[in-house]
Amino acid sequence: VVQGAMEKLVPLAPDSWIPGGVPDPLIARKHGLIGKPVSRLDGVHKVSGTAAFAAEYRFDGMVYAALVYSTIPKGRIAAIDSAQAEAAPGVVLVMTHHNAPRLNPMPMFGSSPSAVGATDLPIMQDGVIHWNGQPVVCVLAETQEQADHAASLVHVTFDETPAVTSLAEAQANGVEQGQFMGAPLLDEVGDAEAAFAAAPHRVDQTYRTPRHNHNPIEPHAATLAWIGDRLVIHDASQMVTQQAQNMAQIFGLDPEQVHLTSPYVGGGFGSKGLWNHQVIGAAAAKLAGRPVRIALSREGVYRVVGGRAITQQRVAIGAKADGTFDALIHTGLSTMPPHGTMPEPFILGSQAMYGADTMLLKVEVGRMDTLANTFMRAPGEAVGTFALESAIDELADSLGIDPVELRIRNEPEKDPIKGTPFSSRHIVEAWRTGADRFGWADRPETPGSRRDGEWHVGMGCAMGTYPYYRMPGAEARITLTREGDTVRAKVEIAAAEMGMGTATTTAIVAAERLGLPLEQVDIAYGDSAIPGAIMAGGSQQTAAIGAAVIAAHNALVEELLKLAGNDSPLSGASADEVGSEAGGLARLDNPDAKETYVSILARAQRGDLSVTKAGSAPLETMHWSMHSYSALFCEVRVNAVTGEVRVSRFLGSFDCGRILNPKTALSQFRGGIIMGLGMALMEETQLDERNGRIANASMAEYHLPVHLDVPEIDVIWTDIPDPHAPMGAHGIGEIGITGVAAAVANAIYNATGKRIRDLPITLDKLL
Ligand code: MOS
Repeated sequence: VVQGAMEKLVPLAPDSWIPGGVPDPLIARKHGLIGKPVSRLDGVHKVSGTAAFAAEYRFDGMVYAALVYSTIPKGRIAAIDSAQAEAAPGVVLVMTHHNAPRLNPMPMFGSSPSAVGATDLPIMQDGVIHWNGQPVVCVLAETQEQADHAASLVHVTFDETPAVTSLAEAQANGVEQGQFMGAPLLDEVGDAEAAFAAAPHRVDQTYRTPRHNHNPIEPHAATLAWIGDRLVIHDASQMVTQQAQNMAQIFGLDPEQVHLTSPYVGGGFGSKGLWNHQVIGAAAAKLAGRPVRIALSREGVYRVVGGRAITQQRVAIGAKADGTFDALIHTGLSTMPPHGTMPEPFILGSQAMYGADTMLLKVEVGRMDTLANTFMRAPGEAVGTFALESAIDELADSLGIDPVELRIRNEPEKDPIKGTPFSSRHIVEAWRTGADRFGWADRPETPGSRRDGEWHVGMGCAMGTYPYYRMPGAEARITLTREGDTVRAKVEIAAAEMGMGTATTTAIVAAERLGLPLEQVDIAYGDSAIPGAIMAGGSQQTAAIGAAVIAAHNALVEELLKLAGNDSPLSGASADEVGSEAGGLARLDNPDAKETYVSILARAQRGDLSVTKAGSAPLETMHWSMHSYSALFCEVRVNAVTGEVRVSRFLGSFDCGRILNPKTALSQFRGGIIMGLGMALMEETQLDERNGRIANASMAEYHLPVHLDVPEIDVIWTDIPDPHAPMGAHGIGEIGITGVAAAVANAIYNATGKRIRDLPITLDKLL
């Protein structure tokens, strides 16, 4: 049962008006539903097998798809011999560029507000090959096994042309200024190179990170059908509305003709967007006149779905003897294909980490003939902080200053690039409480000095930042429905849930505002028919939803007061003068003047009441420098004989505003840290430079952390609300991974005296 919100619903002081709207009065509330550990509402459906994932839907008469992939990186299809495949048992269709329906190009990210493609290449339209692994043939058959078998019988020959398949070739061909979201990845404050050259203490190193591929537990899949002139898609998506709109554009349909649902997603991390497979599946379904399930194999995910691009980063820091920075330079190279849109923007974290008299941040891009890369959890920050935070550790070591202390000495007073004030930055507090809890004072001062049998033991730390974003376009519809002497609330949002707890957090926020128990609140999401557009990306969905729920709730209260009319004890009260409590509204200045929702609706002879409202414009980010922050501590054991690294302890100390649901937040932070451990020690896409093919396209050869690789991970947070964010909360989806690889690398240095500047830190590099 929800306690009343009354005591906390204090009217705001006039000077607390902020750009982006008045903050939620519940921001300061500490002991309601918000801040309580609530289990995921979808958890029971998942563990009991009743949650339907994209590849579990079925349609009558459905057939199964299998893809044949290009084996060359660049050129043309010379011939396709599909006679054997067409004669194979169960085969319904062999689709190639010869018989595929004519399609519009995929709308590429950045080309319009709703465009989400990682590339705008034509899909099965012209026989031109752009990457090794590009789908060239789609086979439909009555069973998945028949489709897979028939696909193996298709013989494709190619005319190959020279391709760029190594970083060295790409560099030799010349590099260009990188862009991200339409802006150049270039920041300059003063003359950093000159200041660096004149600085009394200097570190200048190059760090390398490899390509990474996405490995969500649920491989990408879609089950789809043409019903009349409508396309129905059950997809695995973190951008539900946008994908529906993009599919409509590709197939030349009106947006209402595409209905896309995605209630459950088995992990996304940036990858659950629109790729070739959904388009090919829908095209084949149209051609065959049959519903289609297209489920990528694990190998298929590597061929079709892009990941993180290579980086080669220079970090140069010039410092005074007290450790304060004269110059911070973070520059280097990333890659993308000619048909791509996103290099790895590795300077994003560095934009808000430290104060320095001068700064130079710059990403250049070399072009390689590969699959288009895309977002992967903290794109930019995850690998950028490996370089920056390793370099800070190197500087601390050469200056003989404790690395935590060195970071605190360089804490900026305002945004180092934009000059705007910080909305809420408590990283120093996070450092202090984290260091205390971890036992940082016990860190071996001399690298390589602590042994436990054949194990070197060491500790390292690192910092992370991730920007606060809030995308416009979020709407919420709240419907109150009378059921006898009680009421149910339904909240509809065009959001995506990848398993991180969005629906649960939304229910918490709505229940708290409405003064209803959680059990009386239903959440609908993951359906393109719901108005508005949100996406699970950029760690911003919860803020976007929250702003919309706040706006819709305020509108709902206004409507309720109108319905209540003159016969209500609430008569004459404005929306600002009431609070929600115990299934109704009450006057703030006189809590005895109250009426339940049921009573208001009944007297007005209404069965329900529904309002839809968009969130306020996200103006707060224009006025404030807003970020999530982390202070990370790691202890490693490195085997002196084998070079094996075991992470033995890890602590994340976070400053991300108010934490809405501690239970799901803890999982988000831990999951991010685990992904960071994989990045530090294991993950690496092996691109065969002879032919641009991913050589380790399987989970047997692309290594991820398993349970035995993961130690107890301790997580704490400041829980200080940001008065300038709609619910006081910053994003927590991507900050978890940020900085982790550097914390591990720095601990390895402390344990062994060996500085590894190349990820992943595999044992061969330590011998
Ligand atoms: Mo993320 S990389 O914004 O899913």
